[in-house]
This record gives sequence, C-alpha cells and structure tokens, in this order.
Amino acid sequence: MREQLEALQKEAQADLSACGSLTALNELKVKYLGKKGPLTAALRGLSGLPAEERPRFGQAVNSVRARIESLLAQKEEEISRKELKERLLREKADITLPGRRPPRGRLHPVTLVMDRIKSIFVRMGFAVREGPEIENDYYNFELLNLPKDHPARDAQDTFYITGEYLLRTHTSPVQARVMRGNEPGAPIRMIAPGKVYRCDYDATHSPMFHQVEGLLVDRDVGLSDLKGTLELFIREMFGPETKVRLRPSYFPFTEPSAEVDISCVICGGQGCRVCKNSGWLEILGSGVVHPRVLEMSGYDSKKMSGFAFGMGVERIAMLVYGIDDLRLFFENDLRFIRQFEREAVL
Ligand code: FA5
Ligand code: MG
Repeated sequence: MREQLEALQKEAQADLSACGSLTALNELKVKYLGKKGPLTAALRGLSGLPAEERPRFGQAVNSVRARIESLLAQKEEEISRKELKERLLREKADITLPGRRPPRGRLHPVTLVMDRIKSIFVRMGFAVREGPEIENDYYNFELLNLPKDHPARDAQDTFYITGEYLLRTHTSPVQARVMRGNEPGAPIRMIAPGKVYRCDYDATHSPMFHQVEGLLVDRDVGLSDLKGTLELFIREMFGPETKVRLRPSYFPFTEPSAEVDISCVICGGQGCRVCKNSGWLEILGSGVVHPRVLEMSGYDSKKMSGFAFGMGVERIAMLVYGIDDLRLFFENDLRFIRQFEREAVL
C-alpha cells in the first residue's frame, strides 16, 4: 500500500512537470483528485483494513493528497504567469495613440431651431402649450371658422383616420383648446409647437412638418401688437438688420390677416434663387383673431381681442442654415445631420 502511494505521488510529479497548459492541468486535477481518481478509491478502501491500520493509512493518503494539491497550485501559478507574459508580449499596446471617442449624438437642426424659437417667446412671457396630433374636425376646422365645405379647407388636405378624426393640418386647433380650457375670459399668451401633416411633397413642402402657433388674447390687442411682437422675434432669430414686411392675406380665423415676409437672408434682399428673385421670404401666417373664433371658444369679442400666428419651423431652419431643400431634414443622411452644432449660426 505504501509503495503504491509513493508510486502514485511520483507519477503525479512527473505528469505535472511535463504539463504545459491550464487545460492539461485541469485534466490532471481530475485524474488524481477527482471522484474516480486513485486517492478517492484508496480512502474508500479504508474500511477493508484492520481498525488499527486505518489511521496511519488514512494519514498517508491525506498527505499524498495535500502534496499533489500543493504541486497543482504551484504549477497553476507558474503556467498562469507564463501565459500572462506571453499575452503581454503578443498584445503590446501603443499608449501614445489617441483614444477612441465614443460616437456622440447631436440635436437635429429642426430641434435646434425649435428650441431657439421657444426660448425667444418664453423670454417675452409666452407659455408653451401642446395639443394632440390626432385631432377632430371640430377643432382642426370648425372652431377656426372653417365650416364643412368651406373652400379654404382645400388648401390643407390631410390624412383622415375616420370621417371625424384626422392628422392635424396646423397647430391652430391648440388656440381653441387653450381658450376653452382656460378660466372663461382669462388673458392668454401662449405658443404651441408641434408636428402637423398635409398631403404635400416638394422642395419646400413635406407631408409632416413642424409649426409653432402663437396666441395672445387680452384687452385692446391689435395689429400693431402683432407687428411689434413678430419684429422682435424676427430680429432675435435672424439678426437686427433683417427687414420685415406684412403682406395682406386671408385666413378664415383671422381678420385682418397677413403673411409675414423677411428680407432674404441668403442674398440680403438683392434677389436670388432661394427668394425667387423677389428679395423676400415668407415665414409665417398671422392676423388679428376673428371675433367668431373668440366667441365660439367662450370669449366675449367686445371685451377681448387677440392676435395669432403660425410659423413653419423647417422653413425657418432652411433660412437659418441656408438649405435649399427641406427634404434633407427627413432623409437622415448622417453626413448632412452631423453638420449642425448646438448653436444655430447665420
Ligand atoms: C397656417 O397653417 C395657419 N394655421 C397659420 C396661421 C395661424 C395664420 C394663426 C393665422 C393665425 P399656412 O398654411 O400658410 O398657414 O402654413 C403656415 C406656414 O407653415 C407656412 O408659412 C410655411 O412656412 C409652413 N408650411 C406650410 N405647408 C408646409 C409644408 N407642407 N411643409 C413645410 N412647411 C409648410
Ligand atoms: Mg402660407
């Protein structure tokens, strides 16, 4: 028995010194110390020995086991160190190389311009309100003095969900929502940014685009207040030298109505391709709120009056960045999208 144990230890020592990898080492561990290994078998055989021999033999088995365990541990450390050394040599890193930057997202140009528009009006005391993109006919048209079969509806053809529900064609329904949600007769000073939808598609028209609505209702509000507010906005947005022109127009929900043009930011008013040689660019529709619109939403048009406007955000972004096709904003070509920094520049 003793000789067998000694032989076993020798064999293990020989195996271990020949061993060169952690995988092989693991196999040796199973071979000698595993459940089916010779040491386990020897311990199991203990019960067959006379009682007085058991302690001594048991001790001998355990000491061989301990010896093999310590050899295994020693070898494991030796191999690990060797493998690490080899790996370090193999994977030499040039720490003078510049680091890899994780890709960083940026805000979309339409978002950048939207944020600037909002911040200009917030500084003038306007609250930011929102309304649903799926609107009903009543809010999108009727409450804006556009009864069914009104010809002005044709200019805003949209996507219908049912006969009654549609994707809103402008942010103007938020006017009625805010007036009706307010304490009756309370003054209003709000903007309503958001997405709108129309059956349009060309270089300056897309089927989904953004508008910012504005509504101010109070006592004695008139066209001069509208003009002053929009001039202030336009100078903040496009620079102090920008000229502003109000051009008579028609909207069923305002009277009088005006489209607002600015002197072309591309050519400075000389005339170019973008302004179609007119020197002017249209950026929004506006007017004095029609008395019927106030009345329909619970305001007494004899006591209160207001002005409203609705601007196209993509159009403004085109002017701010000098972009001649609005569809670029929605194609998500990274080469285009990556050009815009946090701050819009003229
Ligand atoms: C309106 O939508 C009115 N609701 C604006 C208004 C509000 C007038 C309050 C009076 C009082 P209009 O259809 O002109 O008006 O659109 C307003 C702006 O949206 C346009 O000046 C233009 O800048 C932009 N716009 C219109 N259609 C598109 C389109 N398909 N793609 C991108 N921008 C568009
Ligand atoms: Mg228009």
